Amino acid sequence: MSQDAFRLVSPSGDETRLPVRSGTTGPDVVDISDLYRDLGVFTYDPGFVATGSCSSDITFIDGENGVLLYRGYPVEQLAAHSSFIEVAYLLLYGELPTAAALEEFDNIIRRHTMLNEGMLRFFNGFRYDAHPMAVLSAVVGSMSAYYHDTLDASDPEHRDIFAHRILAKLPTIAAAAYKLSIGQPFMYPRNDLNYCENLLHMLFAVPAEDYEIDPIAAEALDLLFILHADHEQNCSTSTVRMAGSSGANPYSAIAAGISALWGPAHGGANEAVLKMLEEIGDAKNISKFVAKAKDRDDPFRLMGFGHRVYKSFDPRAKIIREMCHKVLANLGRVDTPMFDLALELEQVALKDDYFIEKNLYPNVDFYSGIIYRALQIPTTMFTVMFALGRSVGWTAHWQEMIIDPTGKISRPRQLYTGAPQRDYVPIEERKLRERRANHSL
Ligand code: SDX
Repeated sequence: MSQDAFRLVSPSGDETRLPVRSGTTGPDVVDISDLYRDLGVFTYDPGFVATGSCSSDITFIDGENGVLLYRGYPVEQLAAHSSFIEVAYLLLYGELPTAAALEEFDNIIRRHTMLNEGMLRFFNGFRYDAHPMAVLSAVVGSMSAYYHDTLDASDPEHRDIFAHRILAKLPTIAAAAYKLSIGQPFMYPRNDLNYCENLLHMLFAVPAEDYEIDPIAAEALDLLFILHADHEQNCSTSTVRMAGSSGANPYSAIAAGISALWGPAHGGANEAVLKMLEEIGDAKNISKFVAKAKDRDDPFRLMGFGHRVYKSFDPRAKIIREMCHKVLANLGRVDTPMFDLALELEQVALKDDYFIEKNLYPNVDFYSGIIYRALQIPTTMFTVMFALGRSVGWTAHWQEMIIDPTGKISRPRQLYTGAPQRDYVPIEERKLRERRANHSL
């Protein structure tokens, strides 16, 4: 750790030294832990645009150069040579597994895919048309009501079993949420199938006939899960870390992450992209929607564009775009209006000064929905698919947070802008006060 420091002098002349800390790569950080003690002020950074919340060994992003590393390995190399289960092992344990370790891990995951039968009865309580993300977050949260046997976060074996259960059972829960929405019977997992084959089986097989798994579909899903597996301190991962920092049940922390992912500014964008493309409908309407996206008075944004960190191409978007070509061709999709429209929209936007100046490029969500749709996965399941991939990243970060010897409960401070201290007013003396401009009662 470097011992440089920033010297900070307050307007009243008080002074403090803020140590600079260097990581393996990427920007240094200024440690402000003693700022309030020395100078009586907080830092202020809504949305944590320039604030590091922790140190982490898991994932590194270089937003300027479009670099994404999982435990040091470029995501492009993992996408080309690895599998989601192998990447899950890497993210959880820090190293690529040997063949024996990978086989053992894969077998463990295959044998944790079934749900407690009581949990299956939860699904009957949902409306048939409940959004699958609502079902996923609720049922994952309910896992904290089932698994009391492994909740000692200080026990490495308990942490391991938690990781295995989350990774293995989320596809079963996700598929059940989908079957619920179409009124079909749930399909039990099969231990003879790998992670993605099993998911396709549970999503699309029916008891009435055999189901043939399309290897192209399984391969496409596996690649999408690799690309979605982790992304350092994004909104949903930070939510998992914050919820877990209080010592809450880890299944509840993952459920909180699922809820945070659902937002259209985050993982919900893949569903929003398809809805946007359907609304655009035809290439002749692209300029109208691009104009709306540029209009500061119009809340419309080009979904699937822009990123807090990537100010150049999201490397995942590039890989998914290439995969679109392959999947659509292999699935025999010759009429690919949505994909063609997405490609045309990307070309128009990337030539527009507004998008160039604001460094707005397609992100991971822009093309992923094209592939899910080609695999006959409904739009409402797109963010669920994102959650399946990201479940291992959430779990790896929860584990890293739990074992961090410097860890403490997350509790940010604030800039208070409310009413100054004032005395209670008896009701008979109150008159209707002007509604405060920035707070509706
Ligand atoms: C994910 O953090 C992660 O790593 C997330 C993720 C992961 O793997 O976990 O990568 C997954 O969430 C990808 C992002 C998916 N969301 C979308 O595609 C929704 C559309 N994009 C935006 O809402 C936006 O770009 C964000 C939320 C992704 C990023 O927002 P920021 O960093 O807070 O940036 P901002 O909103 O301050 O935008 C900066 C400027 C603004 O204009 P000005 O106020 O400076 O004039 O760019 C504009 C914005 O209006 N802008 C857009 C835009 N995104 C930003 N204008 C039009 N269309 C857009 N999509």
